[in-house]
Order: sequence, then C-alpha cells, then structure tokens
Amino acid sequence: MFQHDLLKGRAIFLTGGGTGLGRSMALRFAELGARMFLVGRREQPLRETCEEILRFGGAAAFTTCDVRDYAAVETAVAQAEQQFGAINALVNNAAGNFIARTEKLSPNAFNSVVGIVLNGSFHCTQALGKRWIAQKLGGNVLNIVTTYAAANCGSAFVVPSACAKAGVLAMTTSLAVEWAKYHIRLNAIAPGPFPTEGAWSRLMPSKQFEEDSKAKHPLKRFGRHEELANLAAFLLSDMAEYINGECVVIDGAQWLRGAGEFNDLMLLPESAWETMEAARQKKS
Ligand code: HXC
Ligand code: NAP
Repeated sequence: MFQHDLLKGRAIFLTGGGTGLGRSMALRFAELGARMFLVGRREQPLRETCEEILRFGGAAAFTTCDVRDYAAVETAVAQAEQQFGAINALVNNAAGNFIARTEKLSPNAFNSVVGIVLNGSFHCTQALGKRWIAQKLGGNVLNIVTTYAAANCGSAFVVPSACAKAGVLAMTTSLAVEWAKYHIRLNAIAPGPFPTEGAWSRLMPSKQFEEDSKAKHPLKRFGRHEELANLAAFLLSDMAEYINGECVVIDGAQWLRGAGEFNDLMLLPESAWETMEAARQKKS
C-alpha cells in the first residue's frame, strides 16, 4: 500500500519504543525510511529494538528516560537532536495501566498512571512543540490513546488510565487548533485490544476473560500489530496533511458493541479481586 520511502527523511521521537506496539511502530516506520529515536525506562528492550532496526539497514538510537520527569525529557530530546538533527514527529506511546477496584487505589497508584500517560505526553509534546515553534519547523504529534478515552465513555476498573487518556485526547484536539498556525498537526489513534506482553500481563485477569473478550468481539479476533503500525505511518505521512485533531479508532467495532473495554469485569466475583490483590501484595 505504501511506497517504501514514505517516511524517508523523517526523524521520529517515539516513547515506549522498546516493547509492544511501540516496538512494532518503530520497526515499521524505520522500514519506511524514518530515523527512529526511542525512549523508555529500561535500556535492554530499547537496545534490542534499535539493533533490529540497524540489522535491516535502518537508522535508530535510544536513551533511557522516564517521561514523568520533565528535565529527563528535555535531555532526551536534546540527545535525539544531536543524533539526527531536527526531530520531525513525536509519537506519545508510553503508558502505564492495570486493572484495580478504584476504591482500593492508593494516591500513588493513581498518580503513577496519570504521570506516565498524561504528564508524560504533555512533557514530550511541549518539549518538542516549543522547539518546532521557535525554529519555524512545523511538526507532527501522534498520541496513542484508548477507545475508553472518548467523551462520555470511560471504563470501569481502569480509572487512572481512563482519566489520563481522556486528558491526552483533550490535549490533542486543543493543540490541533492552537498550533495549526505553526504547521504542527496532532492526531490520535484509539486501539482496541492488541496482544502485547505489557497490556496482557496487567489487564487480562484470566485466560477465560481473554477467550470471552474474543468471543464477544464483532470480528472474533484481536488486532494485528501491522494494522496499527500502518495506520500510524499513514497519519504521520504527508498523505494525511489535512487530518488534524482527529482520533482514529482501530478496534474492529469492539466499542460500538459495548463501550468501556473493561466494564465486563463487573462480572468478576469479589473473590477473584481478592485473590489478585493478595497475589500482588505477596510480590511487593
Ligand atoms: C493497584 C497498583 C497496581 C495494581 C501498581 N500499583 N500496580 N495498585 N493495582 N495492579 C500501585 C503500587 O502499589 C504503587 O502504589 C503505585 O501503583 C506505583 O507502582 P510502582 O510499581 O512503584 O510504579 P512504577 O514502577 O512506576 O510502575 C508503574 C505502573 C506499572 C504503571 C504501576 O504497571 C508499569 O510500569 N507499567 C508500564 C507498562 C504498562 O502498564 N503497559 C500497559 C499499557 S496497556 P503505592 O501506594 O503502593 O506506592 C494500556 C492499554 C489499555 O494502556 C487498553 C488495553 C486493551
Ligand atoms: P507496553 O508494551 O507495556 O508499552 C508501554 C511502554 O511504555 C513500554 O515500552 C514502557 O517501557 C514504556 N513506559 C512506561 N512507563 C514509562 C515511563 N515512565 N517513561 C518512559 N517510558 C515508559 O504496552 P502496549 O500494549 O504496547 O501499549 C502501547 C500503547 O498502546 C499505550 O499507550 C497503551 O495505552 C496503548 N494501547 C494498547 C492497547 C493494547 O491492547 N495493547 C490498547 C489500547 C491502547 P519501560 O517499562 O521500559 O519504561
């Protein structure tokens, strides 16, 4: 569908690029000619993703960075510029999430997720945005949200994530207008379920829940990483110049069937929650 050099000449700063969907996007964008700068907290997965890109002849570099820390984000952006010159696009993909009964959350649990998702996305967007404005460069931001980020939706049992992703969506639409005059575009993708170790280990309480989710899905399957990576590549490319402030849902119509991806956890018995909470306490 795409020309092989669709993203040639682009330098893309991508958060959470060592694992899951971030990794898949990084590999795909690099295949399409982009130079990738990846950040995340752990060095190992970032290094492995970069090595894979370099192996097929692409360009990639990384630094460790906790996006909750604005100074660390500034340093990472400066390193990215040193590596590749001006950065053209940002993908806010890093996230934290888990299922929990909201009345049991500690303030730190709430802050931890909101810090990564909302503050982290703001930090990266502002750090790059202010450079693009000062240098009259233009730019492109793609935010990975969720279907339950939509107004009047939300989802039970993932309240910190729902609050934070709704905030990211509000930032996307607000800045799409505010920064259009600087030729900075902002869009979002709202994925349905895409199997990743990070999401599955924290959000799927059992194999049974996973099977039930698939059985209830209109297409009877979860998303494939290349489906999301291709959509992201399109939105970042010049083919999508006039798309600004949009959120594209890619979920096979899952949320139209029943909004709030984790609302069905209402069916989990009290005892299942108690078992999960006890297991976590034992680990910590
Ligand atoms: C209740 C929890 C918890 C849980 C952690 N906490 N896990 N509370 N239930 N399952 C609490 C801790 O007790 C602590 O509070 C606080 O949260 C911070 O936890 P830490 O482990 O100290 O924090 P940190 O190491 O910064 O880890 C952040 C994290 C972790 C968000 C908690 O899960 C993480 O690193 N996640 C990154 C990757 C990720 O989540 N990927 C999934 C994205 S999927 P106290 O008070 O004890 O200090 C996604 C898709 C949604 O977003 C849709 C899918 C279909
Ligand atoms: P994932 O593999 O766990 O990805 C999350 C990434 O964020 C990890 O690479 C993680 O790396 C990084 N990260 C977490 N906290 C960070 C921090 N403080 N600073 C910097 N990086 C941090 O999960 P995923 O499923 O691929 O999720 C990717 C994106 O898709 C997320 O925005 C998620 O909300 C969204 N999404 C996923 C699904 C799905 O079904 N998979 C559905 C809807 C939306 P470190 O731990 O090394 O920092």
